[in-house]
Formats: sequence, C-alpha cells, structure tokens
Amino acid sequence: MRAPAEDGSMDAEENDPLAWTRDYTPILRSLAAEYGDSRPLDGDTIAVASHLEAKTGVLIETLREAGAHVLVTGSEPYSTKADVVRALDEQDGIELFVEHGMSEEAWEAGQHDLLEAEPDFLLDDGCELIAKAHAEYPEVCERIVGGGEQTTAGITRLEAMESEGVLEFPVYGVNDTPMKHFFDNVHGTGESALMNVGITTNTMLSGKTVVVAGYGYCGRGIARKARGMGAQTVVTEVDPRKALEAHTEGHRIMEMGEAAEIADYVIPSTGSREVVRREHIEAMADGVILANAGHFDVEIDLDGLSDAAERVTQPREGVTRYHLPDGRRINLLARGRLVNLTGPYSNGHPAEVMDTTFAMMFVAAHDLLTGDRDRAPGVYAMPDRLDRAVAERKLGTLDLSIDTPTDSQREYAGDWEHADSSF
Ligand code: NAI
Repeated sequence: MRAPAEDGSMDAEENDPLAWTRDYTPILRSLAAEYGDSRPLDGDTIAVASHLEAKTGVLIETLREAGAHVLVTGSEPYSTKADVVRALDEQDGIELFVEHGMSEEAWEAGQHDLLEAEPDFLLDDGCELIAKAHAEYPEVCERIVGGGEQTTAGITRLEAMESEGVLEFPVYGVNDTPMKHFFDNVHGTGESALMNVGITTNTMLSGKTVVVAGYGYCGRGIARKARGMGAQTVVTEVDPRKALEAHTEGHRIMEMGEAAEIADYVIPSTGSREVVRREHIEAMADGVILANAGHFDVEIDLDGLSDAAERVTQPREGVTRYHLPDGRRINLLARGRLVNLTGPYSNGHPAEVMDTTFAMMFVAAHDLLTGDRDRAPGVYAMPDRLDRAVAERKLGTLDLSIDTPTDSQREYAGDWEHADSSF
C-alpha cells in the first residue's frame, strides 16, 4: 500500500469524489470504454434528474463519454451532494442546475433553466421532470425524443399521463426491467434502508420488532434482510396476494393499527401516502423509530405527527423526536424523507446495485436516441434484449460464465407437441 505524500498533497483520487465509486461500477465503466471512441450520443442533450451523489455522477460521466451533452438536476436538495456537484461542474459537456440544500425557489428556478436548455431526452426519477416539462414546457416536450423512468412511483404517474392522453413522447419504464427492480428495489433498498436506520440511531435490530409496510419489491427486501439480522418482522399490506406471500415467507401479517402497538421500528415502502398516520402514532410505544423507505416524504403523515406532539427536539443528528403529551417519544429519521438517501449518513444504494440500474438508464437513452427517433408517445417496456445485454455485461465484469442452450434444447423449447415423450 502506498503511503500518503509527505508534503500532505493529495492524490487525484483523493480529490475526486467519484473515484471510489468508479471501482464499483464496472458496467458503466465498460459502457464508457465501448462508446468512448464512437460517441454515439454526440449531438444529443440528455437531462438527468436523480438523487445526485457519486453513483449518479458516474452515470453522468458515462453519458458524456458516449458523446452526450448532459444537463443535471437532483431529485431533491438534501440528497444532492456538494462535492459531487463541484466535481461534475469542472467537466466539459456537463451543466449543473442544482446545489446541495438550495431553497425551494432556487430549486424550481433551476428546473426551469434546465428545461429551457431544451434537452432531447429526460432520464427521470419519480417522473418529476417529465411531469414538469408537460405542465410548463409543452413546446419543449414536442421536440423531446424520449425518456427513461427508474422508479415504481414514476411509472405509475407516467401510466396516468398516458391514459389521460397527455404524454407527448415515448418513455422506457426502466424500473420494470428485471435487471432494475430485482437488484435495486429488493437488495439496494433493503440493504441501504436498514444500514441507515442502524447508523443513524446506533441501535440494534436483532431481537426487535420491525414493521414493514408494503411487501412489493422494496418491502420484501427490507423485511427479508431485517429477519436475516435477527429481527422479528411484521408486514402490513393492502394487496391480499402480497400479504399471503409475506405470510408464506414467514413474516407476521397485521393491520397497521395493530402492528403500531408492538413496533420498535416502522419502515413503510409502499409508494402511497399517509401509510403511517395519527391513529397509528397514538398507538405506538415510547421510543419507536420511524423511517421512510418508499416515496418522497409522504408515507408518514408528518402533519399528523406534528399535531400529536407538544414539542419537538433533535436528540441526535438525523433524528427528529416528537414528544407526545403523555410522555411518549416518537423518533422520526431523515425528517420523514427517504432514509437511505437523505439522512446525514446516507449514501444511497450500494454502488454495485446502482451500476446495474444506471446501466439500464444508459441503454434506455442509447436505444431510443440511436434507434427509431419517431416512436409514438407512450410508456414502453424495455426490450428483453437490452435487459439480457446488461446482465451479460455484468456477468462479464464478474468473470462469470453461464451455459448456452444446445440446438436440441432450443428445438425442444419451441416444440409444443413434445413428440419425443415416451408417455
Ligand atoms: P411495489 O409496487 O412493488 O410495492 C408496493 C407495495 O406496497 C405493494 O405490494 C402494495 O400493495 C403495497 N401497498 C400500497 N399501499 C399500501 C398501504 N397503504 N399499506 C400497506 N401496503 C401498501 O413497489 P416497490 O418497487 O416496492 O416500491 C415501493 C416504493 O419505494 C415506491 O414509492 C418506489 O418509488 C420507492 N422506492 C424507494 C427506493 C429507495 O431508495 N428508498 C428505491 C426504489 C423504490
């Protein structure tokens, strides 16, 4: 191992907030290596709206290396990392419209400036930028070639726009690809949400009761991993099939009203609003910890929490404590925003997971911009070939190989009569 320079000067990598992450994002690096010379995105302007931290920084660099001019905003001011903003700002071909902790007015103005710069493609997180473009910049929408959306909630919004007939361009539903949600939602959210709960509170999940609201991709990742850490898990659901799935996998099923009474931790990840609300708060024990791992800041009813409390304190960085009149204390992490992204110790998903998600975002942009640029507006499933190609690329970076079906196996799969059956 090399010792630090004696004069105290820093290596390039010590000055570069993206350097560490590049080592753990081999798919993006391989895309940059492949497209760095041919620059297939030359002449295209791509807007990226996502929680702006190091992994997003590597995606942005990769798009730029493939030739795109990149316009950058965040998903929200508190998940925007100042050092990443500085590092990207120094690179040619990248324009920043966001700063850490900026005011709501400055944030809005930044988004308007970005859309006025007339992007050809929008890579979005939660459909915020796409919705804003449609609501406020119809003339910009008319010339946008397409978009990609990485979240469950964003795709729901896009589908609503499509069914109302207002969606103006084609958008790939990146979230719905296996390569995205199997890894990002399940493992990324599962691991990073629990890690941040642990780091922020310095408490032990083992032996405690963890209530997870929602047993979709994120919720099942959180519940399974919490159980793996020794917690007793309770799942709340509104979908009977998901509830049965959670039950069959060994979690207890309760309504939130009942679960709230026994919870040590409550972690909603549903995409819905006010999943934890005043009536549940009234049932909770002293010291319960609430952490949102779902949608923006809406899953926990923050107004209900404020109304229930007679005073609010901050016992620890990243923890807001609501003191109820009867002496019980309810602890809210990351101000009710996404615990894995917006708390003081939050680093978001592990880099390897975001490498996969962002590789899917990259190929979404590459496919729509270099293919048929006149597709009809709509929400499109990403073609399976793109998903498989990213999976193969990832296996390649891991130096793992898999079998190829033989001709006879291919033939067998395509033969519905199965003439060789001996029965
Ligand atoms: P999903 O659609 O697979 O699962 C959501 C589940 O919540 C469904 O099973 C649904 O029946 C259930 N649900 C809905 N309303 C409920 C309620 N009131 N009470 C209990 N359960 C309820 O969605 P997925 O992929 O699990 O995403 C969930 C949320 O997490 C979305 O908002 C998504 O955008 C967000 N997300 C957050 C991430 C993070 O970094 N924290 C990463 C990826 C997604």
